[in-house]
Amino acid sequence: MEIRLLDRHDAPAYQALRLQALRDSPHAFSASPEDEAGRSLDEVAARIVPAADGSVRMLGVFDGGVLAGFVAVIHPQRPKLRHGAELAGMYVAPVQRRRGFGGALLQAAIAHARAIEGVRQLGLGVGASNVAAKALYRSAGFVSWGVQPRALRIDGEFHDEEHLWLRLDD
Ligand SMILES: CC(C)(COP(=O)(O)OP(=O)(O)OC[C@H]1O[C@@H](n2cnc3c(N)ncnc32)[C@H](O)[C@@H]1OP(=O)(O)O)[C@@H](O)C(=O)NCCC(=O)NCCS
Repeated sequence: MEIRLLDRHDAPAYQALRLQALRDSPHAFSASPEDEAGRSLDEVAARIVPAADGSVRMLGVFDGGVLAGFVAVIHPQRPKLRHGAELAGMYVAPVQRRRGFGGALLQAAIAHARAIEGVRQLGLGVGASNVAAKALYRSAGFVSWGVQPRALRIDGEFHDEEHLWLRLDD
């Protein structure tokens, strides 16, 4: 297993896996498959390379050189928000699950956020009924601070989102 920041050469593999994620786990993402499918490889590359201002970085986990999962670390640049970072879009391919990839990716993302100057906490949102992801985040020390009712509406059905945070300056 290897974990590293994605670069523009990872764009085709990222787009294929992201499409798979949006198709097989619609409740875990606010984006829809059409959002991703409509992007050119240049647009995808621009989204995954580390932003020049440090606001977005995409980490990937690889198995034998093949992209198996990813998560974004988002760091707002406004002075009043710079003490926090957010994790978003976490996904591990179904065939690779329960092998420790998600846990390793999460630990790498936490370490990454901790290394950003001034960051003291991490936040994320997770589908309130997403048992697997909630167990993963809780095992890393994230705690719940609230639930957003009806955060997503998919095929006419509402889904709540739970918000978790992890203090890094304890
Ligand atoms: C959530 C997800 C990333 C976990 O990835 P993974 O590689 O299977 O995770 P790991 O193998 O590292 O498991 C780490 C811990 O997570 C928890 N976990 C993972 N899958 C679980 C499941 N199906 N049921 C209960 N707990 C689960 C366990 O605590 C596990 O530790 P353990 O194996 O020692 O019991 C993966 O299931 C996934 O991509 N799901 C679909 C997309 C998604 O829900 N993303 C999160 C958006 S917020």
